[in-house]
Amino acid sequence: MSELQNELRDRQLKYISLCGEEIRRREEELGRKLTACVVTFGCQMNARDSEKLLGILEQIGFVATESEEADIVIYNTCTVRENANSRVYGRLGRLHSMKKKNPDKLIGLCGCMAQEKGVIETIKRSYRYVDIVFGTFNVFAVAELLYNRFTSGSQVIDIWDSAKDIVEDLPTDRKFKFKSGVNIMYGCNNFCSYCIVPYVRGREKSREPEEIIAEISHLVADGVKEVMLLGQNVNSYGKSLEYPVTFAQLLKRIEQIDGLERIRFMTPHPKDLSDELIEVVGQSEKICNHIHLPLQSGSSRLLKLMNRHYTKESYLALVEKIRAGIPNVSITTDIIVGFPGETEEDFEDTLDVVRKSRFDSAFTFIYSKRTGTPAAEMEDQVPEDVVKERFNRLLKTVDEVAHEQIKRFEGTVQKVLVEDVSEHDPEYVTGRMTGNVLVHFKGDASLAGTVVPVRCTESKGFYYFGEKV
Ligand code: SAH
Ligand code: SF4
Ligand code: F3S
Repeated sequence: MSELQNELRDRQLKYISLCGEEIRRREEELGRKLTACVVTFGCQMNARDSEKLLGILEQIGFVATESEEADIVIYNTCTVRENANSRVYGRLGRLHSMKKKNPDKLIGLCGCMAQEKGVIETIKRSYRYVDIVFGTFNVFAVAELLYNRFTSGSQVIDIWDSAKDIVEDLPTDRKFKFKSGVNIMYGCNNFCSYCIVPYVRGREKSREPEEIIAEISHLVADGVKEVMLLGQNVNSYGKSLEYPVTFAQLLKRIEQIDGLERIRFMTPHPKDLSDELIEVVGQSEKICNHIHLPLQSGSSRLLKLMNRHYTKESYLALVEKIRAGIPNVSITTDIIVGFPGETEEDFEDTLDVVRKSRFDSAFTFIYSKRTGTPAAEMEDQVPEDVVKERFNRLLKTVDEVAHEQIKRFEGTVQKVLVEDVSEHDPEYVTGRMTGNVLVHFKGDASLAGTVVPVRCTESKGFYYFGEKV
C-alpha cells in the first residue's frame, strides 16, 4: 500500500474512533446497544459495498441487525431501472414515520442512485430528514460523514464524481463466512446505449493483481472457500494497468492460492471473451464451470443500436466455442425486452438465441428508460402492452429451456458447496453446484462451508433434491 493510502486509512480510523465515542455516550443514555441496518438494492457490487459499510459501522460500535427499526438505517441503492428508484423513495417515507417516533434515528442513502444529480435535488427538496447521503466512490468514508452529521446537526451530502482515492483496507462484515465477492475493477467504459451504470460508477479502473491476491489470501485465512470476482466487464481487466495483465492471467494466479476451493466471476462481456479465458476455465479445477454471458437481445439490428459490438451469429458462435472448451458448462444470461424500436421480428431473434444457446437460467428485464442515456432519446418506445406480452412469452421460453437443461444433471454426482440449513426444512441443507444450480439434501449446519459430493436425484425445474454420497 502507498503512503497516501495509509494516510487515508488512518484518517478514517480516526473518524471511526470519534464516532465510537459519540455512540458510547448515546448507549449510556439509553442503557442499551445501538443497532445498524444496511439494506442492499441492486447487484453484487453493491452487496460487497454493503459489507464494507456494515464492517465500519460495527467497528464504530453498532450491532448489526436486519430490522429497519435500527438506530441507523442505510439504503445502498441501485438505479439501473426506474422502478428501483421509486421503491427507495417509498421506503424512505416509511423510515420517516419511524424517525418521528425516534428522533435520534439516523437515515443514510448511498450507492448508484445518489450519483444522479436529479436524485440529489429531490433529496435536498423533499427528504430533509435523510441524515447522510453519499455515492459510490466514497463508501469507505461513512464514519467521516457520520461524524460531520453529529457535529453539524444537519443533513450531510457528499457526492464525488470519480474515484479520487480508493481506501480498501478497512473492516468488512461478510454476509457469508465461506464466500465473498472481491472487486477486481471498478466502473465501466462500454456505454451500452440503455445503461446508466457508466454514469454512476465512473470510468473503468482495474486493481493491481498483487492487491487482489493479498485480499483473497486474507479472506481464505479467514475461512473463505469461494470468491466471486466482480467487474462490469471482467474481460477488459488489467488493460490499463502500468504493467498490463489479462483477466485469464489473473485467474491463473488466483488459482494458486492454497485453501481457496472455488472461483467465480461476473460479468464477462461477449464482445471480447478470449480463447485464452475459455482455455483457462476449461482446464481449471477451481474455476467454476459457469459463464454468465449477457445477451440483452438476439437481434443483430438491436444489438448495434444497443452499442454491444456483437451480432446474433457471433454470440451463437461464442456459445458453441464455450461449450466445446469447458466441459459441462452452465451458461446463463441477461435479456432486455422492449428496447426502443424492437419489432416482433427482433423479438423472435431473441427467442431463437434462447433456444439455441440452451441457457441454464436467465434474468429477464423490461426495458427501462434512463434519463441521460442515448436510448432514452430514441423514438419508437414500444407500447407497454406489447412489451408485457413479449415478456411473458420470453419467460415461458426461458423456463422451458432451463428445465430441459437442468435435467442433464439427473442421476449424476456433483460437488456442492453447502451454504446453509434450508429455509423450508431444518433437516435439509442448501448448496450450489459449480454451475450455480441449487441443491437441497439431508444434512445439518455443520456442513455449511464445506464441499461435498451429492447425487442429484430429483430435478425440480430450477433446482434439485439430492443425496449426499
Ligand atoms: N455489466 C453487465 C451488466 C450490469 S447491469 C453487462 O454488461 O452485462 C445488469 C443488467 O441489467 C444488464 O445486463 C441488463 O440486462 C439490465 N439493464 C441494464 N440497463 C437496463 C435498462 N435501462 N432497462 C432494463 N434493463 C437494464
Ligand atoms: Fe452497462 Fe454495458 Fe457497462 Fe454492462 S457493459 S455495465 S450493460 S454499459
Ligand atoms: Fe444497480 Fe449500481 Fe449495480 S445501478 S446494477 S447497483 S452498479
